[in-house]
Amino acid sequence: MTIAALETLRATVTPAPSPLPARVVPPKRPQGRLAFAANFLRNPLASIPEAVYEQGFVAYDKNRVPLVWITDPAYIKTVTLDARDDFSKAAQKRLLGPLLGNGILTAEGQDWKWQRQTSAPMFRHQDLLAMVPPIVEATEAYIAGLTHNSTGEARAIDHDMTRVTFDVISATLLPGGNSEMEHAIEHNAGRFQASTGWTLLFALLNIPAWVPRPGRSVRSQGVHVLRHSVLSLIAHRRAMSTKPDDLMQRLMDAKNPETGQQMSDEQLIDNLLTFYLAGHETTAKALTWTLYLLSRAPEWEAKLLAEVRQVVGDGPVKAEHIDKLTLTQQVVKESMRLYPPAPQFGRMALKDTQFGPHTVKAGTQVLIPVYAIHRHRKYWTDPDQFDPTRFEPAKEAKIPRYQYLPFGAGPRICIGMAFAMMEAVAILATLVRAARFTSQPSLNPEPISRVTLVPKGGMPMHVTRRA
Ligand code: HEM
Repeated sequence: MTIAALETLRATVTPAPSPLPARVVPPKRPQGRLAFAANFLRNPLASIPEAVYEQGFVAYDKNRVPLVWITDPAYIKTVTLDARDDFSKAAQKRLLGPLLGNGILTAEGQDWKWQRQTSAPMFRHQDLLAMVPPIVEATEAYIAGLTHNSTGEARAIDHDMTRVTFDVISATLLPGGNSEMEHAIEHNAGRFQASTGWTLLFALLNIPAWVPRPGRSVRSQGVHVLRHSVLSLIAHRRAMSTKPDDLMQRLMDAKNPETGQQMSDEQLIDNLLTFYLAGHETTAKALTWTLYLLSRAPEWEAKLLAEVRQVVGDGPVKAEHIDKLTLTQQVVKESMRLYPPAPQFGRMALKDTQFGPHTVKAGTQVLIPVYAIHRHRKYWTDPDQFDPTRFEPAKEAKIPRYQYLPFGAGPRICIGMAFAMMEAVAILATLVRAARFTSQPSLNPEPISRVTLVPKGGMPMHVTRRA
């Protein structure tokens, strides 16, 4: 997005939005191998055939490796909970392993368990509530940097939200940005994400990792820079005389109950990078798509503003407000239904498994297309429409557990779920009260899966601070 292009947004008026917010148009039927691969590389979500949005189980057998998409909530429960030990994170490991090693997101078995147990206490409800003030401060610092006049300014909202959520993670769970870390993340995480298409495709097709593929050297350089930056943070922490009680320190002090050993530097880097990346990119995308949706639904923007003014008043959003901001929560949940920040995840079957009448052979890649589940024709009314009333408490209680999965499910459910919800609500409430976010009527960026769900071409919006 050039500055000139951003500037053309200056004259934005609130548009009459097109009927449906941005979406992926699925191919009518499963494609041949080449078309599948081409579509997959452009946007993995564009290779999901229409049948996946209509049925509970769709098999694709034109690859060297069989692949199935499951959307039936009962089948998802099988994979994520009931028979979880019969499935492995092989493809995810191959995709993210070079960057995140054997950290909490990619590890399995006992290796995973103790890392999860070590990290879990940082995510207790009461401890999280104490993090609301730094979250709000980071948001207010962003607002303070915006132009303060009546015409406002053009902004790349996707970048802005990444910056705010990075500032949040560094002010709460992890040591704060030295600028080297911030720079490394900003420049290399994006490069890494951009190059993931080939790796994931190779993993799904079971092509050996040594086979050359585009983007590999750029990716390796990025990985090196990121891991090196985290190592210097660890060295800095070791040299400190008084050590803060944060997630980094807990990870450094923890001992594996089986071996009694502490994490090596490599393991520490794996986990710290996991938390830096998983802990801000996803929430940034949730906020980006939410602001987009609100710009198309001025009536919801007005309702949100009224709620924030009534619950919070003029002061900063505080911990006690979070639960009372019910409409704000509904909007965030509905936004993550339409645009799940982690749009697809998967497991590989380790043994033959039965899904109702369907047998899945060992070695099959089982994909859980969260994006398609959240827009499934049989599970949702008007699935492509933005309608936050779906998450009114009484209605939300009726949504089957395995039909709404922005944070996954089972024991591998996102450890940062409560943190992310609280953060998104606090940031959104603070932003909406301080400024108006508008977009061009023609803004309809295709949602593209690049580990997280990114808007194709970015999210250019116009931001005007409220008087
Ligand atoms: C809106 C924001 C977020 C979304 C949509 C999201 C989504 C997810 C999903 C779907 C998974 C499960 C993946 C799988 O089963 O294969 C996951 C796991 C994980 N997430 Fe999040 N996440 C978010 C925010 C966060 C935050 C804020 C943190 C940390 C501060 C975090 C840390 C993690 C970690 C460490 C895992 C791996 C957990 C394990 O395997 O035990 N996430 N996330």
